[in-house]
Amino acid sequence: MCGIVGIVGNSPVAARLVDALRRLEYRGYDSAGVATVHEGRMDRRRAEGKLFNLEKKLDAEPLPGTIGIAHTRWATHGVPNETNAHPHFVDGVAVVHNGIIENFSELKDELLAEGAVFESQTDTEVVAHLLAKYTRQGLDHRAAMLATLNRVSGAYALVVMFEDDPGTIMAARFGPPLAIGHGRGEMFLGSDAIALSPFTNEITYLVDGDCAVMTHKGAEIIDYDGKPVKRQSQISQASAFMVDKGNHRHFMEKEIYEQPEIISHALSHYIDFATHTVKANDTAIDFGKVSGLAIAACGTAYLSGLIGKYWFERYARLPVEIDVASEFRYRELPLSPSQAALFISQSGETADTLASLRYCKDNGLKIGAVVNVKESTIARESDAIFPILAGPEIGVASTKAFTCQLAVLAALAIGAGRARGTVTAGDEKAMVKHLAEMPRIMSRVLNDIQPQIEALSRELSRFKDVLYLGRGTSFPLAMEGALKLKEISYIHAEGYAAGELKHGPIALIDEHMPVIVIAPHDRFFEKTVSNMQEVAARGGKIIFITDEKGAAASKLPTMATIALPNVDEIIAPMIFSLPIQLLAYHTAVFMGTDVDQPRNLAKSVTVE
Ligand code: F6R
Repeated sequence: MCGIVGIVGNSPVAARLVDALRRLEYRGYDSAGVATVHEGRMDRRRAEGKLFNLEKKLDAEPLPGTIGIAHTRWATHGVPNETNAHPHFVDGVAVVHNGIIENFSELKDELLAEGAVFESQTDTEVVAHLLAKYTRQGLDHRAAMLATLNRVSGAYALVVMFEDDPGTIMAARFGPPLAIGHGRGEMFLGSDAIALSPFTNEITYLVDGDCAVMTHKGAEIIDYDGKPVKRQSQISQASAFMVDKGNHRHFMEKEIYEQPEIISHALSHYIDFATHTVKANDTAIDFGKVSGLAIAACGTAYLSGLIGKYWFERYARLPVEIDVASEFRYRELPLSPSQAALFISQSGETADTLASLRYCKDNGLKIGAVVNVKESTIARESDAIFPILAGPEIGVASTKAFTCQLAVLAALAIGAGRARGTVTAGDEKAMVKHLAEMPRIMSRVLNDIQPQIEALSRELSRFKDVLYLGRGTSFPLAMEGALKLKEISYIHAEGYAAGELKHGPIALIDEHMPVIVIAPHDRFFEKTVSNMQEVAARGGKIIFITDEKGAAASKLPTMATIALPNVDEIIAPMIFSLPIQLLAYHTAVFMGTDVDQPRNLAKSVTVE
């Protein structure tokens, strides 16, 4: 949430700051802004909405200067307008901020009582006011920064610049990520290494409680008492290459169609295609010995974890405690060091997931990260990294990261089963063979179902509410289908366990509520069909996502039946993800929404 950048440069920085912001737009796109200092004067350009609005402003009114800071915003406090856009200026101090200053309201009251005048409704502005106040009281900039950091609480990454010191940028991290980039006679700061990749690949990650003072000569890192701390720099693998959409209309469409190839690549890391066995990845977690697993994640990543729970319990006989990370972190769940914990996150920066990780770490559990961004905070704080190798996911709605997470979890669960003696060599071979065949089946499905889904999406776009039902691993998939549809088409949708229908949601069924039933012909099929009967008996419209066997077995009238190839249970969740992703995508396209950057969302959620 919110992307921040800073450059202490030798040549004009405004265009470079915007280039870095473009790489951070996934973190928010409510507004953007840039500030520089030139010839002793600090100035800024800010614009509501996406980055191109700021670029237009900068074209009309360029911003000279070789030092500057910039921000792309995901609004927390205050509406997304130009006044609330960062950088915030107070008396020669400029601040950009990612996160939430939790005690901003008491600080604001104190500052107001002292006569401060606030321009914006943001929490960030208190930081600029505190810095200005301490500077007025005679503290030098470093002391003012430390005094300010000792007053604010919450989660923040802050970058600060002073009009009367055009050779220094200061920064602090407590929660959201912040990376220092080391250039030749120039220094950079950014929310991630990708933002800085065009400028340098030598990166130092700040950790919580670090304050950095950056000049042309380098970065000095101190704690909030001003004591020097040492942080190692590393060579980042982040690529400066900007991903494009290829022939696709949206990144989301491209990412859906990329899945067969990407999953094949991801699987090659975990399974041996020649012997049809799970590779014994030497990691800090011995799934053969642990007494149980704890899993925490958010949104789509949580739903992949929920499917993982079914697999770990069924195949490895390993009990799994799973929750959305925002609840997990506060549950005070009793844990034992004999358990291991897995944290699933595309970005590797999700605040609640990271807090849950730290809770488990404090309880002595071994930590595994199922992440896409290998240099992320969650990856760095884990004992074992299980990369999902999905490549950059640009569409805000997660698609390929979800199926890659599933592929990795499936391989881990089979491997755990082998290690625990609950999966025989024959079972392992059979399941791994199915995984190996999956990319080919995915390609076929994507090709075959597209016209039917597109036509169906036109009809679906006319409804206001949609219910998704599933049993077993199709239950989390029902929730994922509903999440995907609501986040990009803005149609209200809910996912339910099919067996729960008659415990409440059945009251909603009428001809205005399509019910999407996800039911491969598996051991739950008959039971799910009974639930479909209950919908049909009440005039509900059914969209039946099943396989060829299921389509042949059910005689119920449907609004549409999507019949996928018959596949083994272990790969069904990945295969059945495809129609639900495409259905959400095409429905959103018909509705004319901003598919890749839906309203109010951000790709990386670094606040609670
Ligand atoms: C939905 C979606 C979100 C993310 C969630 C967690 O399409 O993308 O629900 O899954 O915000 O993000 P990560 O995986 O980065 O921790």
